[in-house]
Amino acid sequence: MLTTAPRGTKDILPSEIENWRYVEAAMRRICAQFGYKEIRTPVFEHTELFKRGIGDTTDVVEKEMYTFTDRGERSITLRPENTASAVRAFCEHKMYAEPAPTKLFYIGPMFRYDRPQAGRYRQFHQFGIEALGVDSPAIDAEAILLAVTILKELGLKDLHLKINSVGCSKCRPQHRAKLQDYFRPHLEGMCNDCKSRFERNPLRLLDCKVPHDHELAAGAPSLEECLCDECREHFEGVKRLLTAAGVDFEVDNTLVRGLDYYTKTAFEIQYVPLGAQSAVCGGGRYDGLVKEIGGQDVSGIGFAMGMERILLALESQNLLPEHKDGIDAFIVCPNQANFEAAFKTAIALRQAGLKTEFDFLARSMKAQMKQAGRLNARFAVIFGDDELARGAVTLKNMAESTQTEIPVDDTVTILQTEVQKYE
Ligand code: HAM
Repeated sequence: MLTTAPRGTKDILPSEIENWRYVEAAMRRICAQFGYKEIRTPVFEHTELFKRGIGDTTDVVEKEMYTFTDRGERSITLRPENTASAVRAFCEHKMYAEPAPTKLFYIGPMFRYDRPQAGRYRQFHQFGIEALGVDSPAIDAEAILLAVTILKELGLKDLHLKINSVGCSKCRPQHRAKLQDYFRPHLEGMCNDCKSRFERNPLRLLDCKVPHDHELAAGAPSLEECLCDECREHFEGVKRLLTAAGVDFEVDNTLVRGLDYYTKTAFEIQYVPLGAQSAVCGGGRYDGLVKEIGGQDVSGIGFAMGMERILLALESQNLLPEHKDGIDAFIVCPNQANFEAAFKTAIALRQAGLKTEFDFLARSMKAQMKQAGRLNARFAVIFGDDELARGAVTLKNMAESTQTEIPVDDTVTILQTEVQKYE
């Protein structure tokens, strides 16, 4: 057990890290184009922030949080998502005093006690954005366009964007009453969660995963009929701008999302071939959240993408670039009596900016040459007894299998010039 990572977590190995960096670089590049700045918030927060922010009738808060009491008797939770924390930081650092919008992005680990399966983990990573302080549908369209641009830039096809409006505090009570009327006669046969949510938050009945309840939810009255004029107009504005930007989308009136803070626009992007865990991106507007956690009445919109799911999708479409790993020089020193000189040269090469390795295990000449090949070294610098007696070392070009003798004191300058020829 001590040699296995906890269930639902995984190591990101050196052989995988370049893929992560590649995807993150695309995200950072496009965020810069869209004017979003990075924020890094703590991995844990006061539990109350998520209860209030995400909503205490959601699956995330009721079943999936890693919550513990710290040594100071505070209730602490590992962040299950980053929106509540970003909004907390927005309030704490009075970002609202700056001209709107405040545009933030983040990349980092999130934690949910979920049932692990392909594409679903207990520690996973999200890239996400939040834009605060703008009511206009233009910022909703921009956020969606940012998500689509990133996924397209990475080369992903077969993406499916669904959008919906989940209304606001003005039109939701009417929908809530309609939902209760619809579900009331069926309540007896529904799961305990649904029974408890019937009064507390009937909208949550729409995303119950129990098959019987899920089927029932499909026939529930849609929110669309209840939208107030403001929400309807806002939704029309978002659709108009997405169309103008040439973004394909489907309006899906059953899309409600699993977190309580959403108002008006909600959206998800699916990469269908991923199967059960096909949602690679989800987000929406949250006009009441800043106020809910104690800030001013400031609106917001954002989304988050699951990094692991995006990497799975890229891998399945063969869209990850090949990374050529290699070093500039491997110092071969078969006679330990010469090790000090070899070691000093290795340090000098590294100080000159060259990627340099050497042997630690007093291996044979043959084994050290093999190691140079395995590390994909461009040059081997051989500290042989005979050459050293002449104040020289052998420089071997590994790819071309050619070699020359060079003065040991000139190794750094010569190698710098040689390596440059390949850049
Ligand atoms: P979410 O839909 O809960 O939204 O998560 C966003 C994305 O994170 C999902 O579409 C999925 O790709 C990924 N994800 C979620 N749970 C897991 C998991 N257990 N394993 C792997 N990937 C997962 C949010 O978190 C909101 N904070 C998004 C947002 C930002 N809304 C407004 N601003």
